[in-house]
Amino acid sequence: MNNMIQEAKEKFGKLVEEQLKRVEMMKSQGDFINYKELDQIIIGIVGGDGIGPAITAQAQRILEFLLKDEVEKGKVRFKVIDGLTIENRAKVNKAIPDDVLEELKECHVILKGPTTTPRAGDPWPNIESANVAMRKELDLFANVRPVRVPEQGIDWTFFRENTEGAYVLGSKGFHINEDIAFDFKVMTTQGIERIARAAFDYARANGKKRVTIVTKANVVKTTDGKFLNICKEVAKDYPEIEVDDWYIDIMTAKLVDEKRRTQFQVIVLPNLYGDILTDEAAEFQGGVGTAGSANIGKRYAMFEAIHGSAPRMVEEGRAKYADPSSIIRAASMLLSHIGYVEESQKLDKAMDICTRTEKKLVITGRDTGATNEEFADYVMETIKSL
Ligand code: IPM
Ligand code: MG
Repeated sequence: MNNMIQEAKEKFGKLVEEQLKRVEMMKSQGDFINYKELDQIIIGIVGGDGIGPAITAQAQRILEFLLKDEVEKGKVRFKVIDGLTIENRAKVNKAIPDDVLEELKECHVILKGPTTTPRAGDPWPNIESANVAMRKELDLFANVRPVRVPEQGIDWTFFRENTEGAYVLGSKGFHINEDIAFDFKVMTTQGIERIARAAFDYARANGKKRVTIVTKANVVKTTDGKFLNICKEVAKDYPEIEVDDWYIDIMTAKLVDEKRRTQFQVIVLPNLYGDILTDEAAEFQGGVGTAGSANIGKRYAMFEAIHGSAPRMVEEGRAKYADPSSIIRAASMLLSHIGYVEESQKLDKAMDICTRTEKKLVITGRDTGATNEEFADYVMETIKSL
């Protein structure tokens, strides 16, 4: 038994060491990159797995259409990165193969299709999710997920902490013996402060009146308690913004409460709660297939569809009918992030027309509906007519 405890202590010690290094890295981090000052912005296009390449290619066409002049001037360059497939990842037994990571690091921003996340029992080795790895490797700490349903008064922007919490050691837990398994949850002062500031800065810049902090600090006292306290500290620098805090269980319920939910505006929360709550939230808007997601760090940013890679659609030859809405929404967030706000607004407007009001083409996921190429054409035609 002593041996077992000794072994566990050693493993735990290594994890602590790694996390202390991460804290040092965060402490030495500079400010956000300024895209205006760059000679050239490199946009990486990563198709991913399953339906990913098909839908991402359509989002790329739309970006190229909107940024045509910028590409001609040399201010923007596209870089297609092919290797982030489950086959390649399985081959080298790594969440992101080294050569792919190098290519990613040559970019400033990345548009990423869905990637298959292996689970125990899958034909793939049980490697870490490529999403989670990319967020960690590129230190993309703010996962920003907007959800809007104007006719119901819903206008939420979630700031999900993206690099720590239950995820940071998500594939580094261990079995002590056949009876006991441990996973770990980690929160740091630096990690919490930067997500809190991102949420409050966003609220201030966008005229939002309220920021809601969501934790389970009544039970998970140490890490969630720290998250709540630091968010409240940061809030003091934003006296014009109202702050409230909710526990994740009741918050999940309140999103369904039609009266209460319209009061939420900006929501800041730890990684796993953010993962769950944003799926629920997206459902009011029409499902995860309709939502885009931004993963923002100081040096890099990645924009992605929030649905899965739908391998069955590919097996059945239906990839060309897969709905590109989520990745197109992500592309719009990318545009506004790098300073092309007008182009982003045009794209959002066109998407609202194409998916909500006019709906001249409908995507059904089968040959009963439009292909994603036809849909992208429709979006571009709509932009021209604005
Ligand atoms: C998301 C996804 C990922 C996550 C998965 C694919 C690892 O659900 O982006 O929300 O849990 O973060
Ligand atoms: Mg999720």
